[in-house]
Amino acid sequence: MNKIQVGRRMDKNNTRKWLKSHHDTLFPFFHYLKRESIKWLFDRLEQKGAEKGALYVHIPFCTGKCTFCILTKESPSHTTKYVNSVLEEAKEWSDYFSPVETIYVGGGTPTSLSSEELKLLFNGLGETFQIEKDAEISIETTASELTEAKMNLLVELGVNRLSVGVQTFNPGLRKVLGRRGGGKEVIKKLNRAREVFPLLTIDILYDLPGQGKRDVIADLQKAVGIGIDGISLYPLIYSPKTAIGRQFEQPPVETAMDIFESAKSFLEDNGYNHININHFSYGRDKFRYSTYFNSLGNVLGLGAGATGFLADCFVKHQSTSKKYIRDRAGIVFNMPEKVVPVLWCVSQVQYGRIDIEMPKRRWDFDPLDVFARTINKCMDRREMIIRGNVIELTTEGMFWANTIGAEMAVEYLYGGKGELLSLEDKKSKIAKEIMLKKIRSTYRDYRFLS
Ligand SMILES: C[S@@+](CC[C@H](N)C(=O)[O-])C[C@H]1O[C@@H](n2cnc3c(N)ncnc32)[C@H](O)[C@@H]1O
Ligand code: SF4
Repeated sequence: MNKIQVGRRMDKNNTRKWLKSHHDTLFPFFHYLKRESIKWLFDRLEQKGAEKGALYVHIPFCTGKCTFCILTKESPSHTTKYVNSVLEEAKEWSDYFSPVETIYVGGGTPTSLSSEELKLLFNGLGETFQIEKDAEISIETTASELTEAKMNLLVELGVNRLSVGVQTFNPGLRKVLGRRGGGKEVIKKLNRAREVFPLLTIDILYDLPGQGKRDVIADLQKAVGIGIDGISLYPLIYSPKTAIGRQFEQPPVETAMDIFESAKSFLEDNGYNHININHFSYGRDKFRYSTYFNSLGNVLGLGAGATGFLADCFVKHQSTSKKYIRDRAGIVFNMPEKVVPVLWCVSQVQYGRIDIEMPKRRWDFDPLDVFARTINKCMDRREMIIRGNVIELTTEGMFWANTIGAEMAVEYLYGGKGELLSLEDKKSKIAKEIMLKKIRSTYRDYRFLS
């Protein structure tokens, strides 16, 4: 295993930004997206014919008041109407989308829907799509809401992978995060869920205020003890929109990296595989939904705030349930053909490996050539190595993976070669000034060509 050398990772001028989310990685692409009508996309899908894919359903409702949460969420109201809108939208896409290989119901807290609404949702999806027999069907929940009756109902409805947002078992940190219920209660619920669901996964946060390496390892130890199949380990995003982000300074990046390295070794020593930047699997958990997204497979997003990716288009939705019920049509942003291989390579970074030959064969696109500057810098920092036909990220590289992906995108889209430098193309303009301002402040090292 590659050891991280604390202190080596910062650029000389200390400007390298640690991007914690893949949304930040995708940010440099936004400028190139071209707005199209939903009819345009339906015509495109009509030509392609039905294809297999993944479904993402966003249920924005939640009764929690967590101090850190950056997700699209709101207090439950008009929930049945909302579920019906989701099902109506589902029908509009069903001809182009078959079979469904995986479903991910995320939130918010989807289990805040009543039993009747959950039945309506899952039965409705089952009637609308041809869902594969062995489809991976996941739903997010939080331990404080997980009743025996809901667990049994979910299994009855076909859910075979339960994702519980634990965040931490530590009582002090649970308070800081505004989590309901104590760590012991969470463990009890997880042990029961372990008996009920074929696959049980949890979310754990690190880089929390005042949290040390021992605290994170103690959380992971508990998870291993319960026999959790998959662990998503996210660094806390200190957003100014959250109470925690306003109250606390983000710890130094060196601290976070040290914790990440120890957590990764601990999980690997206990039989887990690091299957993508934030996810560790004990073996059976494939997290098929995330694999779809990161390999540019067809992902149909349904519901407020949901984003899908279909036929090289991102499809976004209205951000609140009220707006969505009024207007559920997706908003379509087409990724120009020439940008698709860049997005593909950048998405592969999430897995810590980029196949060099595949993009050469498919698009005549050589990652070693196109991202030469980023790759050389990363190799100097021991974040990447080239092994045969694969660019591999080291442990240190996995920590920086979102940043590295964005650096690759910026190298090509804003400072590189090809025909993609026409930032003035009005059709590709989406809130250009805001975008460029944010991109410039994020990537101070780069010269922009606008
Ligand atoms: C919307 S939550 C759904 C889970 C469920 N509602 C719960 O609270 O347990 C999905 C996951 O997003 C992650 N998340 C939310 N806010 C975050 C932040 N500020 N930084 C990093 N991850 C965050 C948490 O790990 C959370 O489990
Ligand atoms: S973390 Fe989960 S429970 Fe907490 S506010 Fe966000 S969606 Fe709600």
